Amino acid sequence: MTDYRSLEKLPDTAGYKPGDVLVLVGELFGRGYANGLVEEARRIGMDVIGTTVGRRDSDGTLRPLTAEELAGAEALLGGSIINVPLEAGFDMEQVDGQPSVAEQLKKAKPDEWASISFSPDFIEKARSAGTARMRAALAQVMHQLASRIPSGANVLFAHSMAGGIPRARVFMPLLNRVFKGTGDKFLASEGFWNSDLGRLCDASFNEVTGDTFRYLIEESAALRGRLGAAGGQVRYAAYGYHGTAVLVGGEYRWQSYTPYVQGWAKMRLEDIAAEATGNGVVATVFNCPEIQTNSSALFLGVEISLYPLLSAIRNVAGERAAAPLFERCQAMLKEGETVEHLLERADAYLASPLLAGMLDFATWPHHSTREQMELMLASSAELLGMHADHKQLICAELSRIVFLSTGRLMVHASWNPGAAALWLSHDIIARLLHDELGTGII
Ligand SMILES: NC(=O)c1ccc[n+]([C@@H]2O[C@H](COP(=O)([O-])OP(=O)(O)OC[C@H]3O[C@@H](n4cnc5c(N)ncnc54)[C@H](O)[C@@H]3O)[C@@H](O)[C@H]2O)c1
Repeated sequence: MTDYRSLEKLPDTAGYKPGDVLVLVGELFGRGYANGLVEEARRIGMDVIGTTVGRRDSDGTLRPLTAEELAGAEALLGGSIINVPLEAGFDMEQVDGQPSVAEQLKKAKPDEWASISFSPDFIEKARSAGTARMRAALAQVMHQLASRIPSGANVLFAHSMAGGIPRARVFMPLLNRVFKGTGDKFLASEGFWNSDLGRLCDASFNEVTGDTFRYLIEESAALRGRLGAAGGQVRYAAYGYHGTAVLVGGEYRWQSYTPYVQGWAKMRLEDIAAEATGNGVVATVFNCPEIQTNSSALFLGVEISLYPLLSAIRNVAGERAAAPLFERCQAMLKEGETVEHLLERADAYLASPLLAGMLDFATWPHHSTREQMELMLASSAELLGMHADHKQLICAELSRIVFLSTGRLMVHASWNPGAAALWLSHDIIARLLHDELGTGII
């Protein structure tokens, strides 16, 4: 297991210079974490090259983006995109004439979830077909990169891929019960995880969230060698999640969203970075705080630990410097509600004895209990209910601050990281915002 190591001091300025290249491996969405990396890369004059996961036609065929889709994605990225589909996973793979996982699950009924099963042989064959497809696509991407990256340039490969819920209807109601269910609707994550459907998710998460980092590092070996021989430095950074230290009761304490069933795949990602580091490749997983993005929308309650970032910022910057941010947040609340009350309620949740069993780093990720889920979902609803308009949330503002801050920290820390896995806690984010390196974020 990876030792807990948080980034304790702000990184020195990285050696990237104008004309160096950030390669984003994973698509960019409007409020996604990778926006922070793109912003920082651009701020220091790097070029940004993006990738796509491609799209599926109605008959299931994986294809590159159309000209229109490509133009839209390039406009959002503000850079060119290599139009080779990098979709990871195996849910749509057909092997030996057998229907894909998604096809096999088409008629599955949610209430029969516990008895749905697959032949392990089939899953393994589908997985290896998906791996082969992904590796071949990455090789094509590297081929195109070789002609786009100037000789001698430094390159930062950034991995943002995560996911892997197989595309079958049966998962929607089940995962809603696992992540949002209370009372009779509550479904314990452990029971789900130990079913065949849970094992399928595990294999899929490992492939999409974890192993793609290995494929990236391996498929770019020749390019890395060529760039290195010409004097360029190549770095790899991946977004991880393994809990975050936030202020609880006035002290920084490591905590995590539960049930984060992707956690095993995220630890695999850390292992891949450690192995690459052992082989002399500079690869780091940056474990980032909980924020609201397209991907985390399913995990209602994940946002509660974001509120205390406000206290961290105020502690480091002082009341006066933090005042404009506090005022912006206050303006988002209903009349009669205050930021102080909101912070108290978030703290009461995070300090609850019901979560005590889930504060053990060594046994992460933890499974849900009914009491914990009911408390988390009720607290989440209470905090959301303090807002005047659900389209204007304090957590959206804090998420933006976090993705910009982590992007800045990751670009610079990736140059000389000193560890294969680093945690970016609320403490270092607050200190960044108070430092010259964090100028312009708040
Ligand atoms: N949101 C959070 O609270 C949080 C916290 C810590 C770390 N992270 C990590 O940050 C990274 C970016 O996530 P985000 O929250 O910004 O959400 P996002 O939805 O913006 O990004 C998800 C990424 O995963 C890629 N992806 C999804 N399915 C894929 C597939 N089948 N094959 C290949 N790529 C696929 C997407 O293209 C996209 O780049 C992820 O690794 C995520 O685990 C998120």
